[in-house]
Amino acid sequence: MVIVGAGAVGSTFAYTLAQSGLADEIGLLDANHELAMGQVLDLAHGQAFFPSVHIHEAQKTDYADAHLIFITAGSKQRPGESRLALLQRNAKIIQDIMGEIVRQNSSAVVVVVTNPVDILTYVAQKRSGWPRGRVIGSGTVLDSARFRYLLSQHCGVDVHNVHAYILGEHGDSEVAAWSMTNLAGVPIEEYCALCGKCEDWEESRRKIAEAVKNSAYHIIDYKGATWFAVGLALTRIAAAILRNQNSALTVSAVLEGEYNLSGVSLGVPCILSQKGVERILQVNLPPEEQNALAKSAAILQEMIAQLNLPAHLDTRTTKRK
Ligand SMILES: NC(=O)c1ccc[n+]([C@@H]2O[C@H](COP(=O)([O-])OP(=O)(O)OC[C@H]3O[C@@H](n4cnc5c(N)ncnc54)[C@H](O)[C@@H]3O)[C@@H](O)[C@H]2O)c1
Repeated sequence: MVIVGAGAVGSTFAYTLAQSGLADEIGLLDANHELAMGQVLDLAHGQAFFPSVHIHEAQKTDYADAHLIFITAGSKQRPGESRLALLQRNAKIIQDIMGEIVRQNSSAVVVVVTNPVDILTYVAQKRSGWPRGRVIGSGTVLDSARFRYLLSQHCGVDVHNVHAYILGEHGDSEVAAWSMTNLAGVPIEEYCALCGKCEDWEESRRKIAEAVKNSAYHIIDYKGATWFAVGLALTRIAAAILRNQNSALTVSAVLEGEYNLSGVSLGVPCILSQKGVERILQVNLPPEEQNALAKSAAILQEMIAQLNLPAHLDTRTTKRK
């Protein structure tokens, strides 16, 4: 498999993936050849301590026979640069990389990680012309993990027994799907009624959802960027695809009417197999969650509109009830 972008996220993902034993081969490709080489050597020197895996610097020609390609390549904000200008630069980077993947006749599943991930997933999928299940984004898999962690801490229940999903944008408009949340099979409503630990559990829930949303900001304030948990989240996505696991994960997928939305890519529960998104799970959300998801989609569509994509890449039409 190939990881495009050997910065903090790409290299941490490569490190986690190498330890997992999931991949036979990991190729790192970066516009900065020296960085890619440094990361490859540093990782390869750990070969004695993790399962056999061939780690090397990848070339664009490696897209041709890769099963899986993760795109973590991106540009950082320049001093004085607007968010829109940065988005336009990253959209151009993603289109160029995706164009090259298509040119190499690759049959890989492509997972976009670069932010803003939902918009860039949309751009990559449209640029590819491939079935939408084969070009997806890491979506809210990381946010859902953060949600499970915070709930587990709050409720004092093992995170592995906490099932909870964040939907929508990987960003400020994300939606905590409380209706899908359960602890060891007990729906959260019932759990809270039985537990009685919180004085005001509605307020506790609001604070937890807010903390999930602000997680990345806090980490960025402390250390400049995030890379460990996202590296693990990407390894989870890679496992589902490489091992054909049919796992339910909230990756970002281009919607065509699901949840009454289309012409946008965002985090929804999907079944992930070796084909990529095998199917999107249609969950009957209560009106407040459905409305919040529609709002999140509208925010993403507004940003896609600002990109002024060529007509063949811009097929947005929103159907909302
Ligand atoms: N989706 C998520 O959950 C999530 C979580 C954390 C970070 N991210 C995003 O991941 C991206 C990478 O973050 P990072 O901390 O690793 O950044 P970074 O700056 O450390 O690494 C980015 C790398 O991309 C390379 N690059 C730039 N243009 C390229 C091109 N055209 N081809 C190949 N390589 C190219 C750069 O040389 C750099 O090494 C960012 O957009 C970040 O916001 C996403």
